[in-house]
Amino acid sequence: MAAQALTFFTLGGQGSNIVASPSLYGGTVNQLNHTLPKLGIETRFVTDPGDPAAWAALADERTICFFGESIPNPKGDILDIEPTAQAAHALGIPLVVDNTVASPYLTRPFEWGADIIVHAATKFLGGHGSTVMGVIVDSGNFDYASQPERFPAFNTPDPSYNGLVYARDLGVGSPLGNMAFILRAHTAGQRDLGFAASPLDSFLLAQGVETLSLRMERHVDNALAVAKWLEGRPEVAEVRYSGLESSPYYELHRKYCPRGAGSVFAFDLVGGREAGAASSTPCPCSPTSPISATSAPCASTRPPPPTPS
Ligand SMILES: Cc1ncc(COP(=O)(O)O)c(C=O)c1O
Repeated sequence: MAAQALTFFTLGGQGSNIVASPSLYGGTVNQLNHTLPKLGIETRFVTDPGDPAAWAALADERTICFFGESIPNPKGDILDIEPTAQAAHALGIPLVVDNTVASPYLTRPFEWGADIIVHAATKFLGGHGSTVMGVIVDSGNFDYASQPERFPAFNTPDPSYNGLVYARDLGVGSPLGNMAFILRAHTAGQRDLGFAASPLDSFLLAQGVETLSLRMERHVDNALAVAKWLEGRPEVAEVRYSGLESSPYYELHRKYCPRGAGSVFAFDLVGGREAGAASSTPCPCSPTSPISATSAPCASTRPPPPTPS
């Protein structure tokens, strides 16, 4: 959440708006819907994120970014990054992608045109639950000088940093390369708002990243096995996992995440909400029992679990 907030505060402020996919992690929806408006940043949610024209239709001269999740948590309806990036760039707007669920092992959004990537590192990058941290990665590709009206903070002198003009002094063509966004995030946002990672957390996160490829392989193998098993159960109405051939997002997952569709997915039970509530009621013979795929009160009536790899 800190990585996203710092990204949005760096790109804009009072009067800015974000155009976002509606398929996002719930905490992010809260940040966009309830917290950012208190600080003057509005979010417009696209109805059909698969239609690039729908994104463009919601944008105006105060739009600071398009925003979506590569593999959305929990619906798994893969973001079509390439045309969304093209639609953003046609308007002079950067595309920000939350790559938390995919991790760089499954997809690399910069290769499809994204400009900024954010991660909740607590999940797959860290992998060990010892660290709460976010990560921002700047592609260095977006030219903030091309849109001085849209990005005034990049194109006017920063009085808190000796009159630095980020897009001019640190942007395209500067001796350091294009570091306007990430250095403004560091020098202004991180300094003033305090979104700083501790040295120990940074060390722990770096250790987690060392095993990312092996863990992700196992995650996707296990998730696919569980998703296939759920798909075959009579109690399950629908499994929302783009790694399944039955998913409407199967082809998009093959394009963007050919190594696997991640390990976060959702499923609907026959019987809807009530069946869902009943399935998560603890079994009386084992108060700590895991979720049951039936509303039957005893573990002995449950179907056998799948055998993950
Ligand atoms: C896709 C996604 N983005 C962002 C977050 C926020 O993570 P954190 O609360 O660790 O900042 C989460 C948390 O589950 C997530 O799943």
